[in-house]
Amino acid sequence: MEAIFTKQLSKQYGQIWAVKDLNLEVRHGEIFGFLGPNGAGKTTTIRMLTTLTKPTYGRAWVEGYDVIKEPDKVRATIGVMQQHLSLDRDLTVRENMILRARLHRFSRLEAEKRINELLEYTGLSEHADRPIDTLSGGLQRRAMIACSLIHRPKLLFLDEPTVGLDAHTRRRMWDLIRRLNADGVTIFLTTHYIEEAESLCHRVGIIHQGRLIAVGEPLELRRKVGMYTVVTVKNNGNSHFMYFPDRESATKYVEGLPSDVKTIIVRESSLEDIFVELTGRSVEDS
Ligand SMILES: Nc1ncnc2c1ncn2[C@@H]1O[C@H](COP(=O)(O)OP(=O)(O)OP(=O)(O)O)[C@@H](O)[C@H]1O
Ligand SMILES: [Mg+2]
Repeated sequence: MEAIFTKQLSKQYGQIWAVKDLNLEVRHGEIFGFLGPNGAGKTTTIRMLTTLTKPTYGRAWVEGYDVIKEPDKVRATIGVMQQHLSLDRDLTVRENMILRARLHRFSRLEAEKRINELLEYTGLSEHADRPIDTLSGGLQRRAMIACSLIHRPKLLFLDEPTVGLDAHTRRRMWDLIRRLNADGVTIFLTTHYIEEAESLCHRVGIIHQGRLIAVGEPLELRRKVGMYTVVTVKNNGNSHFMYFPDRESATKYVEGLPSDVKTIIVRESSLEDIFVELTGRSVEDS
């Protein structure tokens, strides 16, 4: 049994197919990254998998439970951190966590123990009694994760966990995600940062206009396009990308280039190159 399994999962909004014929497998114990530009269908996928919205057609199983037929079982097994702030802004971190614990029918004593444990785990102990509104974006995000972990989910969905965070705070978030994963939690996260998918995820799915266009380990995907990229910029400013399986073939190509080429860059290919190659446009452009 996979942690997530979908078959032709699809969602239509009016004329738009937000997600179309998605076939996906996420294995237990992995950090799976769902990478795509704005409007690609990442949040819609998470909403279907977490039972917040019904698919138009297709099916999905989360930890073996059918999202349509067994939504309660799915919800009991997963944790979700939504894209937008989903906490009560006027309440403190601890008060928000108490509310969550009540939803999961914890006794007062159980709740207190679990909340202290999680505050410690997420590095929020010293901020526990501050209202959410007074916290930085990074701390708010961590409080959301802490809340989503109350009932010890086996699978955690994180919708853009690091968007808008500075580089330092983003890395601390990565550390927390890695630690959770090392402690046995399967992670499904969305991002539009290629660098994040590349350094954090065991496997990556690339979604574009509602369709899954590639899936695999970052290295595997790079191999598919070519491990080396040659970027050439001509005098008129136009840049051109070429992909090669190894450095030797890239160098050979460079040696044969005409003299009107202004700039030549030979570098390792990135997920960005894969995205550009597969979709014909850059993630940042969209
Ligand atoms: N409730 C809704 N009603 C109508 N259209 C919707 C709704 N939710 C999403 N859409 C549309 O479905 C498409 C996919 O949206 P979705 O929010 O899943 O993308 P996303 O990949 O999460 O984007 P972002 O990176 O901006 O969060 C978009 O065209 C969006 O406008
Ligand atoms: Mg989204």
